Amino acid sequence: MTPETARTIAVDVNGVSYEREVEARKLLIHFLRDDLDLTGSHVGCDTGNCGACSVLLDGVLLKSCMLLAVQADGTSIRTVEGLGSDGELDALQQAFADHHALQCGYCTPGMLMSASWLLERNPRPSEEEIRRAIQGNICRCTGYVNIVRAVQAASGQEVSE
Ligand code: FES
Ligand code: FES
Repeated sequence: MTPETARTIAVDVNGVSYEREVEARKLLIHFLRDDLDLTGSHVGCDTGNCGACSVLLDGVLLKSCMLLAVQADGTSIRTVEGLGSDGELDALQQAFADHHALQCGYCTPGMLMSASWLLERNPRPSEEEIRRAIQGNICRCTGYVNIVRAVQAASGQEVSE
């Protein structure tokens, strides 16, 4: 890293403050995974298509492969590691487990962030609203039905199996 291409940034991630020197070209997803060791967010494509890298940045849902780390300077970021507390799953994570909403799990971190973003704004979403919220997240395994059921269950709605 040369001084011309590096910049020091400060971010809050899941309530922890970090200050790091980063390459100006480094993507946010690689900063999270490689520099902060927060490997919950996945890289599925690097082209903004799969959604596996989804995080909340100042409350905005975005794909962290579509942003440079330096662009996140001064922001507050929430990753999948920020869900749940004290080693316990939160209601959404538990619903994913209970309703078989994951198989390989590769898409799951991004799905969880999109679904948690939705539930923060809409505590009882319809099936259509859930499907719209996760439309930027690709899952190759589940067929999405159980993911929708899990989000419905996490929002306290009755789910037919
Ligand atoms: S890795 Fe970011 S959208 Fe696929
Ligand atoms: S569970 Fe495998 S990609 Fe979604």
